[in-house]
Amino acid sequence: MITLIANPSQIVTVDSKGKNYKRGKELGEIDVLTEHSILVEDDLIKDFIPNQSINYSQLDAIINVKDKVVFPGFVDCHTHTVFAGSRAEEFKMKIAGASYEEIAKAGGGINKTVQAVRKLSFEDLVEISKPRIIYAISQGITTLEIKSGYGLSFDDEIKLLNVINHLNNIFPIDIIPTFLGAHTFPPEYKSDQEKYISLINEKMLPFIANNKLAKFCDAFCEKTAFSAEQIDRIFQTASSLGLKLKLHTDQFNSIGGIDLGLKHKVVSLEHLEVVKNEDILKLGNTDIVCVLLPGVSFFLHYGFAPARDLISKNAIVALSTDYNPGSSHISNINLIMSLAAIEMKMTIEETISAVTINAAKALDVNNSVGSIEIGKKADFAILDTQEYPDIVYNVGKNLNCMTIKNGKIIYKNI
Ligand code: NIG
Ligand code: FE
Repeated sequence: MITLIANPSQIVTVDSKGKNYKRGKELGEIDVLTEHSILVEDDLIKDFIPNQSINYSQLDAIINVKDKVVFPGFVDCHTHTVFAGSRAEEFKMKIAGASYEEIAKAGGGINKTVQAVRKLSFEDLVEISKPRIIYAISQGITTLEIKSGYGLSFDDEIKLLNVINHLNNIFPIDIIPTFLGAHTFPPEYKSDQEKYISLINEKMLPFIANNKLAKFCDAFCEKTAFSAEQIDRIFQTASSLGLKLKLHTDQFNSIGGIDLGLKHKVVSLEHLEVVKNEDILKLGNTDIVCVLLPGVSFFLHYGFAPARDLISKNAIVALSTDYNPGSSHISNINLIMSLAAIEMKMTIEETISAVTINAAKALDVNNSVGSIEIGKKADFAILDTQEYPDIVYNVGKNLNCMTIKNGKIIYKNI
């Protein structure tokens, strides 16, 4: 099946010259093609054709995108999309001045959502998640990571991972499951942390690996969550079982997460709002993706991650929504790009690399998605505008009018 994505005003290729990521100043080089169409064979990108040399007789289908901008399908690489309940009360406390840590200590925070998730069945969780996935698709997101971490018991963590895998089966986009059993200590293990770590290492991780329920193992390295030493032991087990690693670190406190990430060669380090200068230097010399989450800084109203310093030190920077009910109740990727530009001074081009090729690298799928390059999956977001900077300039507005996944239209609003 040969399909032509015909006659767009611009194709934002985010060409990585086969390298499949962008570091430092490369983030600013996104490569914009005009006067070309994209030839797709089945589910893959086959070629770029100058508009005047299109051979219409060889085509099976034409998708007309005249006066639109074609982007690579967006990759939201850090989310907690499967959650239950509302944390609106906390949101009100925050507006009145309480800090995230104060709220967590007062019994709110992650464990509030854990309580709500434990009450719901697999089916209920699938149902409440569906509209969230549909919204992601409507924005042109074609690859979405979702973490567990709101179950925190064997049964409830497995239930969450089963929900995430089921969503991947029933929706046409790629949904990548991450195990986040080490999100925080659940109340029943608060006074016996070692027992919970044993549960993760001896029961949860072996079951998850045997049943291939997650691609990644993540953890939250923070004073109110897990120490670097505790996570070190969890990561040893996870990597010996074949899971790849990610780490939430340096969100509020810098307690050894960066060195731990370097030691375990994690795929990505995420948050980094308070990362130290000496650690920025270390990150600039590695293949680890620095996933920045400006929605969290905005929602909780505290400092943003030092994107400019990381980029100037040559780091591989990605952006994501961190969609969750407590610290970033934001699932709009355009808003995240605008926040990154306005608050972290990333250029528009850098924000585009950060939600495409570099976000794909944060999920270790960058050899097949994240840029419009020959041989990659035909995943596109078609934006209803003629100039690519409009995606960041239109703050919080969804300009996507068509989502194409594996060469097929999966969402259309034109
Ligand atoms: O990524 N940092 C820890 N976990 C989430 C917050 C989850 C919650 O508050 O429910 C985050 O910010
Ligand atoms: Fe998170």
